[in-house]
Amino acid sequence: MSNNITSDDIDALMKFLGDGTPILTQSRQVEAFEREWSNWLGVKHSVFVNSGASANLLTIAALKHTFGDGEVIVPTLTWVSDISSVLHCAMKPVFVDIDPRTLGMDLEEVLQKITPATKAVFITHILGYNAITEEFVAELGSRGVALIEDVCESHGATMGGRKLGTFGLMSNFSFYYAHHLSTIEGGMVCTDDDDLYETVRMLRSHGMTREAKSSSLKQRYIEGHPDLHPNFIFAFPAWNVRSTEINAVIGRSQLKRLDANNAKRIANLKLFLDNLDSEIYFTDFETEGSCNYAFTLVLKNPDEELRDEIMEELTAAGVEFRRGTSGGGNQLRQPYLKKLLGPDEGPKYPKIDHVHFYGFYIGNYPDLETDKIVTLCRLLNKVGRGRKKT
Ligand SMILES: Cc1ncc(COP(=O)(O)O)c(C=O)c1O
Repeated sequence: MSNNITSDDIDALMKFLGDGTPILTQSRQVEAFEREWSNWLGVKHSVFVNSGASANLLTIAALKHTFGDGEVIVPTLTWVSDISSVLHCAMKPVFVDIDPRTLGMDLEEVLQKITPATKAVFITHILGYNAITEEFVAELGSRGVALIEDVCESHGATMGGRKLGTFGLMSNFSFYYAHHLSTIEGGMVCTDDDDLYETVRMLRSHGMTREAKSSSLKQRYIEGHPDLHPNFIFAFPAWNVRSTEINAVIGRSQLKRLDANNAKRIANLKLFLDNLDSEIYFTDFETEGSCNYAFTLVLKNPDEELRDEIMEELTAAGVEFRRGTSGGGNQLRQPYLKKLLGPDEGPKYPKIDHVHFYGFYIGNYPDLETDKIVTLCRLLNKVGRGRKKT
């Protein structure tokens, strides 16, 4: 990522800070950002929090509060917080291998793993690719299983022209620096459901009922607890994961150029995939509606020497990359899950294992020059073709 917080954002911030003595803790700017984000996405409610990981945590906590204990179907390729949120809420994660074309969950396998204990499918739209289908959403609906969308890596991606993050019961976004929109740190929980919205608002602020919008909900707590002062009624053993006015001002400024930036990212990915040698690299990604902030580079065939050579060449050329793609690859190979489930779980998922060992991502940002993308592809093709001949 480069230049993600621009002079326009800093100007907006300076203007805000220079206007008297503004309130800096969560207040009107946060509310305005939530309203504007809801309009941009096409949902009824948004709750701004201090990170995407916090958005994941509040979402699963609200899910558990609403539907009770049970299983949550999760991807093997995702960020740690998608799994840790389930573990911290004492629910059971059930893992699913990936679909190599979307890098999201294998949807057939998801349906096979649904049991009477399943409370939700917590999908991640990986690196801008849509991980769901209309049929899948309808099937979950008919089985009465909630869909939760993690869109932390895919702001602006669509299915059938409608934005991802509007299909699930709740959806999550991250505004960390590397992502499509940055508030320095930040995240959003989005939903059309009024009750979940109130729960997430309370969870965000220590579980306090005065954070709810609904006066009847607040009144119920006040009447149910006459021994408590209305200012301090803690309905949940929750956390403080609020953000600040400063982050919201940056978010509002960034939102103005999100669509234009996304159009450039989409064109960049197309150029990248069009120029890669499809005999060496997997290029058959499902790009319809995608909106990517990092190029996905996956070797077509397992080849450790080629992989290591690519890493050497990219490092020598000053190209930053991450191996394993999103979140470091197969989560089941990470120590926190090995400790819980044993060392033999990871290898049971061969499709994510391929990406784990032979996949990378490389930053894709709006100002990335066309020449640099073409030069990068030439370099990658040259390394791959050189290796094929040996
Ligand atoms: C899919 C996914 N979920 C959640 C997160 C956590 O977001 P944050 O870094 O803002 O906590 C990330 C982070 O990049 C992510 O990629």
